[in-house]
Amino acid sequence: MSTVAEIAEDDARMLLKIMLMGNDFDLTGLFNAQMYIPQYNPVSLGDWELKYQSDLPKSGYFNGPRIMGREIPVLRKDGTIWMSVLPMECESHLPHTCRSGDMLVYGLGLGYVIYNMYYNHRSHSITVVERDQEVIDLFYKAIEGIEAWEWVMDEVEIICADAFYVDLPKVHYDHVYVDIWEHMFPKRAVSDVQKICKRLHSFDTVSWWTMEADVIEWARRSSIKPDELNGSSWLAMGDDNNLPVQFWDGFDYDTYIEWSMEALLNQVIK
Ligand SMILES: C[S@@+](CC[C@H](N)C(=O)[O-])C[C@H]1O[C@@H](n2cnc3c(N)ncnc32)[C@H](O)[C@@H]1O
Repeated sequence: MSTVAEIAEDDARMLLKIMLMGNDFDLTGLFNAQMYIPQYNPVSLGDWELKYQSDLPKSGYFNGPRIMGREIPVLRKDGTIWMSVLPMECESHLPHTCRSGDMLVYGLGLGYVIYNMYYNHRSHSITVVERDQEVIDLFYKAIEGIEAWEWVMDEVEIICADAFYVDLPKVHYDHVYVDIWEHMFPKRAVSDVQKICKRLHSFDTVSWWTMEADVIEWARRSSIKPDELNGSSWLAMGDDNNLPVQFWDGFDYDTYIEWSMEALLNQVIK
């Protein structure tokens, strides 16, 4: 039973949430995927630390500021945040958890992406390439004894290797997802992804974290005006960079592009 103080706090939070909401796009509808929030044990190892921090209103990615309604797990290396389960992270990874089949994921972090790939019931197997053995060891400690993770890990193989040098088995992957960067909108994203993909034997599609910015930047360089941007810009950026970025047939790329513009604005004005 909640106390009066708890109810008042909940109401205040809800009011704040409504006031700050900004856009409220139907993300789960467009991407046909939920945002599942994993649970962790707070742990630290070497330079890395995973701990919970209080929930303050933070910008989403496609949407404006919001709160999660619970404490937030944050992964830091030497004090610098590498991954957190904040609205921005949850929303920005969502489009990439909707692929089906055998997944290849670069960058383990908190395993947020693999958790969501699994619980959206789309993956058959998930291979993760992570450079830092300490991240892998910390991750195993962080999920130890948590039942919801046991199901996920039945599907997962983690390989400790550098994305740019790893020699993976000569098998086929249905989708490749790359998130090895500390900051969003990394300028080297496209060239990094090209280098990574060149080493692969066979795969269907690739995507990477905050790639929406690369589509919009590609359009700017191609003298395509913002109001001329549409779904075909998405595929054209991939073709131009020799990267098979296609999502799936029938997907509403036009809406995705419209929201991607908002995503860029949200990060600039947050
Ligand atoms: C932002 S975190 C990934 C977060 C992850 N998407 C998640 O769901 O929690 C980036 C991860 O990539 C790893 N990483 C950085 N450079 C790498 C490289 N060259 N090869 C493999 N992993 C790398 C880092 O150690 C870190 O664990």
